[in-house]
Amino acid sequence: MVLRITRPDDWHVHLRDGEAMRSVVGATARVFARAVVMPNLGSPVTTVDGASAYRERIAAALPAKSRFAPLMTLYLTDNMAAAEIVRARKSGFIVGVKYYPAGATTNSDSGVTRLERVHAQLAAMEEVGMPLLVHGEVTDPDIDVFDRERYFIDRVMTRILRDFPGLIVVFEHITTREAAEFVADSPARVGATITPHHLLWSRNAMLAGAIRPHYYCLPILKREAHRAALVRAATSGNPKYFLGSDSAPHAKAAKENACGAGGCYSAHATMELYAEAFDAAGALDRLEAFASYHGADFYGLPRNTDTITLERSPWTVPATYPLGEDAIVPLRAGERIAWRVVE
Ligand code: NCD
Ligand code: ZN
Repeated sequence: MVLRITRPDDWHVHLRDGEAMRSVVGATARVFARAVVMPNLGSPVTTVDGASAYRERIAAALPAKSRFAPLMTLYLTDNMAAAEIVRARKSGFIVGVKYYPAGATTNSDSGVTRLERVHAQLAAMEEVGMPLLVHGEVTDPDIDVFDRERYFIDRVMTRILRDFPGLIVVFEHITTREAAEFVADSPARVGATITPHHLLWSRNAMLAGAIRPHYYCLPILKREAHRAALVRAATSGNPKYFLGSDSAPHAKAAKENACGAGGCYSAHATMELYAEAFDAAGALDRLEAFASYHGADFYGLPRNTDTITLERSPWTVPATYPLGEDAIVPLRAGERIAWRVVE
């Protein structure tokens, strides 16, 4: 079976920097026309100049004939000047500002400590039409890690939407039924990305029988009922939900560790994994809109005009891919994937 669809975009990816970036960027650029590149580098991307330099480093790492376009983001901090957001909007290449609650995930130490501290920045974003991309988890140590997204909705997300009624918001990598429903019930200015791993696996994949660190990501995989709700959302045809892989490479040693890093690497097979999830739901006819239309429409960017071809013909994922001098263990390492993107 062969599926030809409009070339997709990845609305949430981590490309890292330096050698690691040069190792992974080709996998994303081979399939996707554009990708929203997360700013959580070791030293976060907080200025337009920093984003511009990072964008140039990515461009320099692409194969000669590549037409891949990195769409850049800024990392919101308590002390970012509102003027930087105006500059970002004028730059034309920065498509969003990323809200990490301080301490929520990889490289989030400079994130937002209290919503009140970023009021001026959010007001500027609302004013100039700059989307806010939200990592929606509270970080209070007294809140159970599996409940952090639910609590974020009540404690923070509802306040953001109420206080900034014109702000465009992407609820990134949603992982719960509550988040899917919240987005469905919100106005059209609120969208959400959904990862392939949250469509394919519940927390059992990570924890039942043995602890499997390569399934550990943030927000963490939830119970089966949430996975099922995410599949219903992604395959519903509702334009608020779109593709964002959250591919987040970490070196094998950083994952297979007594204090392992959060992040799943999926760039080697992003579309293949989504195709499996949609196929399993009997919704392959909905994949194109989710992967190639909804995100572009939400961001107000043109849809791509060329196509990619997916074929149902199984292949075995390598045990590792290179990551600079290290190795990454990809999702499905050493196992089969039913679909492949063919040239
Ligand atoms: C991401 C990373 O490693 O940068 N990790 C993850 O588990 N998804 C950060 C993030 O998106 O939360
Ligand atoms: Zn991410």
